[in-house]
Amino acid sequence: MLGNEVAVIEVDRARLEALRAGSVPFHEPDLEPLIGSGLAAGTLSFTDDYSRAIPSAEIVFMCVGTPSGAHGRPDLGFVRAAVREIARQVDGNETIVTKSTVPIGTRDWLADLLESELATPADRPAVVSNPEFLREGRAVADFLHPHRVILGSNDEMALDLVEQLYRPILEQSFPGGDGRRPALVRTDNPTAETIKYAANAFLATKISFINEISTICEAVGADVEAVALAIGMDPRIGPEFLAAGPGWGGSCFGKDIDALVSTATEHGVEAQLLQATRDVNLRQRERVVDRVRRELHGLLGRRIAVLGVAFKPGTDDVRDSPAVHVAERLREGGATVVAHDPIVRRVPELGDVEITDTVTAAVDRADAVVIMTDWPDYAGLDLAQVASVMRGDLIVDTRNQLDAEAVEAAGLRYAGTGRPAPTPRRALEL
Ligand code: UDX
Repeated sequence: MLGNEVAVIEVDRARLEALRAGSVPFHEPDLEPLIGSGLAAGTLSFTDDYSRAIPSAEIVFMCVGTPSGAHGRPDLGFVRAAVREIARQVDGNETIVTKSTVPIGTRDWLADLLESELATPADRPAVVSNPEFLREGRAVADFLHPHRVILGSNDEMALDLVEQLYRPILEQSFPGGDGRRPALVRTDNPTAETIKYAANAFLATKISFINEISTICEAVGADVEAVALAIGMDPRIGPEFLAAGPGWGGSCFGKDIDALVSTATEHGVEAQLLQATRDVNLRQRERVVDRVRRELHGLLGRRIAVLGVAFKPGTDDVRDSPAVHVAERLREGGATVVAHDPIVRRVPELGDVEITDTVTAAVDRADAVVIMTDWPDYAGLDLAQVASVMRGDLIVDTRNQLDAEAVEAAGLRYAGTGRPAPTPRRALEL
């Protein structure tokens, strides 16, 4: 799309075949049409053969996964395997760009590994750190219209080359580009690697902050929605990532905070705030379970509908999903959990928990309904219909999606996050 020829290496046979047929093995809006047009134009190809893709490449993007390993440190097994394969094929004309979220200091480790694997040490390629800030469900748009592009290296020529590659994005000069030009940050490798971790850690901390405020709001009878709106009006704070809820999840925040804490510890730094961010997040999930237990006077034998399984809307990703955590805990407490999600159909961790096709099937005979993911579908729930099929009357709206008064008007009991319950307030007004 940006005028380059791209060969993607995929070593998993099933994924490779799917990609060659233009099919994306996960839910990501806008990606399939993009792949389809690249395949049709002949500018995009997929292979599992490093010897076909690497020697003709100028730039090699390393995008392999770095899952959490021992003590929160990222497991670099996939990076190591890829570097070994790349080292066998390079001829000195390639620049390696690390997109994978790698521990701070990885460039040096990677350079040493490359050197030890190279047939001719003179062929050693330059390494540029280029962290990504893509959100799941918005990955294509975030890539094409980023706020900033971060490039880190001590090799100026390599930086120039990668900057050149990003030129259409930096200038928004591609078809569909808009007027908002992203910033370019050129720096060294460890700074670029740290920027990635610091960005995610800050966002997670912002959410944990508002979640802690939501707990205080519940205690004092204040409304966290109004608090978030008002503090977000200060440009020094900003309105985004202040939605209180059941805690953050997904494949990045938890993993990246763990990695940053472990890096800090290795260097003798105690990352107190980051540990608190993590602890508050776990507590926020547990608060949902406690709330349901308290309101239902116990979990044993209760039937609970969990609405939303994905860690956020717009994706089928359930990694570190607060919904999965809460469903597991409710089940451990002896409740029967029935879940609904617009796209998730199976969650190995939830074993025999039924994931229904319709909300009605999930809430049928439920003692409580717990909304865990802010899918827009749930904001428009037919409350009268829900009330008519439920056995109980408790609605736990962890994402503050619903109008509390409307819930009560349907004869149901409302429990949001950091919001005062409408019933006592009405009683006070009377
Ligand atoms: C995140 C970063 O946003 C992205 O820049 C980085 O590259 C990868 O990690 P993603 O994991 O796709 O992206 O999800 P994001 O939209 O950031 O949401 C993360 C979690 O925070 C979700 O569970 C979401 O529900 C929660 N969240 C987000 C809140 O609870 N409140 C908010 O205000 C915002």
